[in-house]
Amino acid sequence: MKKVVILISGRGSNMEAIVRAQIPGAQIAAVISNRPDAAGLGFAAAHGIAAQCVDHKDYPSREAFDAALAATIDAHEPDLVVLAGFMRVLTDGFVSHYAGRLLNIHPSLLPSFPGLHTHRRALEAGVRVHGTTVHFVTPTLDCGPIVIQAVVPVLPGDDEAALAARVLEQEHRIYPQAVRWFVEGRLSLGADGRVQVRSETASPAGWTVPPVEA
Ligand code: GAR
Repeated sequence: MKKVVILISGRGSNMEAIVRAQIPGAQIAAVISNRPDAAGLGFAAAHGIAAQCVDHKDYPSREAFDAALAATIDAHEPDLVVLAGFMRVLTDGFVSHYAGRLLNIHPSLLPSFPGLHTHRRALEAGVRVHGTTVHFVTPTLDCGPIVIQAVVPVLPGDDEAALAARVLEQEHRIYPQAVRWFVEGRLSLGADGRVQVRSETASPAGWTVPPVEA
C-alpha cells in the first residue's frame, strides 16, 4: 500500500476527485490544510481520513512554517505528497526534501500562465486552447517536469467562470490518473529531470513518453 498525503488550502475538489477515485494500492493517509477554514477538511474527515491544519499564520517565517508542515506530513510516512490547490510558495528545502514524490496541479498549459488568475489571463491573451498540467514540483513556482496535461477549447462567449469550470472538469480526470500511475510504480522522475511513464503493456525496462490527453 502506498501512502499519499494531500495538501489543500480551500475547496479541495481535486483532493475529493482523488479520494473518490479509490485508487487500488493507495491509502490517503492525511489531508492537511494551511487554512483552518478550508472546506475540503470537512470532506476528508467525513470520509475517515485524518484531516489536519498547520496554519501558516502561526509561524514567524516561511522556513518555520515549512518545517512544521514537513513534520506533520512525515508523521504519516508518505510515499507521495500531492498539492491540490495548496496556495503557498514552498521553500527550496521543503521541495528538495520531497524530490521525486511531490506533485502539483496547475490550471494552465504550463509553461504558459504560471501564477494566479490563469483563466482571466488566457482569455486576455486570446489563446484558442487552454488547460491544466500535473507536474513534479521543483523550486521554481509552477514549474517542473510535466507528467500529464489536458487541453480544452476556449469558446466564443467564454467568461472566466465558464473556462474555469471546463478546465476543472479535466483536472478531476488527470490528477487521479497521475496519482494512479505513481502508485502503480509506473511514474517516475529520472535523474535527468525528465518524467517517465511506463506503459501497462511495455516490458519492465520499456518506458514511453507521457501522453498528452486532448
Ligand atoms: C485548482 O484549479 C488548481 O489547479 C489550482 O487551484 C484550484 C484548487 O481547486 N491550483 C493552483 O492554482 C496552484 N498554482 P480545488 O481546491 O477545488 O482542488
